[in-house]
Amino acid sequence: MKQGDKPVHGMWTSRWAFILAATGSAVGLGNIWKFPYFAGEYGGGAFVLVYLLCIALVGVPIMVAEVMLGRKGGMSPVHTMKKLAAESKVSRRWAGIGYMGALAGFLILSFYSVIAGWTLYYIWDMAQGGFQGISAAGSLAHFEGMQANAWLMLGCHTAFMILTMWVVARGVSRGLEKAVQVLMPLLFVLLIGLVVYASTTPGFAQGVNFMFHFDFSKLSGKAVMAALGQAFFTLSLGMGAIMVYGAYMPREVKDRRSGQARRVSIVSTVGIIALLDTLVALGAGLVIFPVVFSNGLEPSQGPGLLFVTLPLAFGQMPAGVIVGTVFFVLVMCSALSSSISLGEPMVAWLVERGLGRPLAAVAVGLTAWVIGIGTVLSFNYWKDVTFLVGTFFQNVDFLASSLMLPLGGMLIAIFAGWVMKETQARKELAMKSFGLYMVWRAVVRIVAPLAVAAVLLNALIGVLGGS
Ligand code: PHE
Repeated sequence: MKQGDKPVHGMWTSRWAFILAATGSAVGLGNIWKFPYFAGEYGGGAFVLVYLLCIALVGVPIMVAEVMLGRKGGMSPVHTMKKLAAESKVSRRWAGIGYMGALAGFLILSFYSVIAGWTLYYIWDMAQGGFQGISAAGSLAHFEGMQANAWLMLGCHTAFMILTMWVVARGVSRGLEKAVQVLMPLLFVLLIGLVVYASTTPGFAQGVNFMFHFDFSKLSGKAVMAALGQAFFTLSLGMGAIMVYGAYMPREVKDRRSGQARRVSIVSTVGIIALLDTLVALGAGLVIFPVVFSNGLEPSQGPGLLFVTLPLAFGQMPAGVIVGTVFFVLVMCSALSSSISLGEPMVAWLVERGLGRPLAAVAVGLTAWVIGIGTVLSFNYWKDVTFLVGTFFQNVDFLASSLMLPLGGMLIAIFAGWVMKETQARKELAMKSFGLYMVWRAVVRIVAPLAVAAVLLNALIGVLGGS
């Protein structure tokens, strides 16, 4: 499976390349579309606080564990886990983390592509000036019109999936590195500009208050569960995406100046990724909620939030056609750099089993595309067909994001903290501070598994109990 010491899939060329790729995976619809819509749905501040706690206390330590396992294994999550389990002399069933992750990736990709398809449609409409001077009611009607048109949504879903598979087929490190290098900074600059714009709207104070006023009476068990799931989702954790990217991460790079080999630190790398990811999510919220309150919209309107509010802002601001078009292009690109990482664990596994990369990409894409049709229909023909937690889309999202990702993350933490030899983990992480290492270890051994278990149990009881 390996040729010499080089994995079959190629390597990132530098530490920055890994940071960019992993940030590309992390930053996406989860930050710009899902975070604001969840925050709105689950009451604002209290949800945001729990979300931030989940990122810091559970997400970051598990991300460190996931990158560490990936780099140690050097292969797709399934084979990495098999290899590490053999090294630790435990059951090969630990590869189940890889299989479950690949399945979760499939499920997420299926609806991710549908929502990303919306951005394609919005780029098209925005560029034509379709939102100039639009009213709140008009923007809502526009969004509802798109939702009602199943063929349109299917077309956009298909286009986005083809785009994703095309990039995956070419190999993740080729091209992606360069694209992300340009797009990420641009997204940042534009978001900052939009936050500045939002600060001039009358609803700014109310928007900020909504996001940062912690009213715990609004916090339900379901909201805590959503916050935890969202922390995993936004950091791309628990399904092997970060593991497989970690597998392409070099242990040492040549220092540009001195030419000497330098170890690549996992912890500081992960810290940067988590920080950037959180900033984008908070930035998106700081743009969207002021617009919501300035225009008398509902923060809890669900998946349409981003697509109803922002066109409204672009319709009112000077040069809105250009700014709006560029914005949706960037959202689409950041969705693309995430969606390719959703398919990658599965594709890498198929490639290791001997399939050609293009064929593996098509197989994965086609299957996810078919499942995605259910999500397309969830917004029109099947709108009223609800079971368990809601529509087909909501069930797929809940199963994959709120159950499978946290479960996968918990197993990753347990493997890194309890199963793997302590000296091995310490060597791979090579942290400078022993104190920090001990904190990490305590978190992956005890805090993270317990926190996830508590939330999952609570949720299962809630769903089964019908609340
Ligand atoms: N993190 C991505 C986002 O926020 C979604 C994602 C989840 C990507 C899981 C890969 C794995 O949009």
